[in-house]
Amino acid sequence: MRRFSGKMSVAVLSAVALTAGTFTATAAHASGPLREHAEQRGIEIGVAINDGLLSNQQYASIAGSEFSQVTAENVMKWETLQPSQGQFNWGQADQIVDFAKQNNQRVYGHTLVWHSQTPGWVQGLGAGEMDTAMREHINAVLGRYGDDVEVWDVANEVIGDNAQLRNSFWLQTLGEDYIANAFEYARQADPDAELCLNDYSIDGINAKSDAYYQLAQDLLARGVPLTCMGFQAHLILGQVPSDMQQNLQRFADLGLDVYVTELDIRMDLNGGAPTQQQLAQQAEDYRSVVEACLGVERCKGLTTWGVHDASSWVPDQFPGQGAPLMWDDNYQQKPAYTAVHDTLAGD
Ligand code: G3I
Repeated sequence: MRRFSGKMSVAVLSAVALTAGTFTATAAHASGPLREHAEQRGIEIGVAINDGLLSNQQYASIAGSEFSQVTAENVMKWETLQPSQGQFNWGQADQIVDFAKQNNQRVYGHTLVWHSQTPGWVQGLGAGEMDTAMREHINAVLGRYGDDVEVWDVANEVIGDNAQLRNSFWLQTLGEDYIANAFEYARQADPDAELCLNDYSIDGINAKSDAYYQLAQDLLARGVPLTCMGFQAHLILGQVPSDMQQNLQRFADLGLDVYVTELDIRMDLNGGAPTQQQLAQQAEDYRSVVEACLGVERCKGLTTWGVHDASSWVPDQFPGQGAPLMWDDNYQQKPAYTAVHDTLAGD
């Protein structure tokens, strides 16, 4: 059982605020940051951050105070860390790690092996060289961050939307063993880290998550050091899978820790701002996802993919859609924030 949360402190703080005549609709804020309640529930509450925005005081303040864990949105990917063979560029990733240390946060490592944001020099290698490059990259990255990063997305998005192994350059050049090998190399480089698979559109039970369930079972049966499963949860308003908790639970029952790794909930904006109705629906959707995680003992963390709507990747990829996060373009808390806060707090 997870430990009970900060319900008492909400009541006490609200009473104090009322007495002082200062009570406003910000009671949730007054009752402490998300991370305080997440800690009481035994989970991490995480956020993907963009190093280029940390100089913004509001951005940095929210990222540092509300969350217990950070993921680098882009700068721990291969194209940033090793843009040319053997030439490593640690500066931006170091900045993320330094930020986390300053704020007493855990770092979630994203990502070691992916078909996207991997430089051309890797993609052009023959099989032997590509395997060596993968091992050396993993060694170098875990060698540098082994003390700072406790959990890694080792292999990202290895199954396609057709529920088959993704037909990436990795698969074409190395065959399906590249996945197991990536985990083996990561374990050799870091004996303690949590090592995850991670993907999108696998949040509920469907053909793609079934394929992952099979893959996870196969890897575990072969003794491959897979220890966790990441569910990205790039969701659409009103479409949180009703069987999300059940889906997470079946992976947990394999002996894996599970994480919600990239949560955002996008909506059609029709050229304008979100309506009150959309914001209310989004709050309910966020609540459902938090409840799904809290309902699974081995759900160790929940990360949102960005701080505020203006910094989200969504409008770039889905023109006309957006507003997927808990803070709006002007860093104002949205109803989704209150829903997450109160759900973590047990209200
Ligand atoms: O760094 C260049 C910059 O030099 C250039 O001027 C600029 C011009 O567009 O592009 C910059 O690169 C961008 C990069 O992010 C770094 O900011 C790319 O265009 C942009 O496509 C890229 O998008 C990222 C995307 O991954 C790439 O696939 C998003 O920010 C990031 O949120 C997104 O994150 C992924 C996860 O890693 C995996 N799961 C899905 C998730 C959403 O797509």
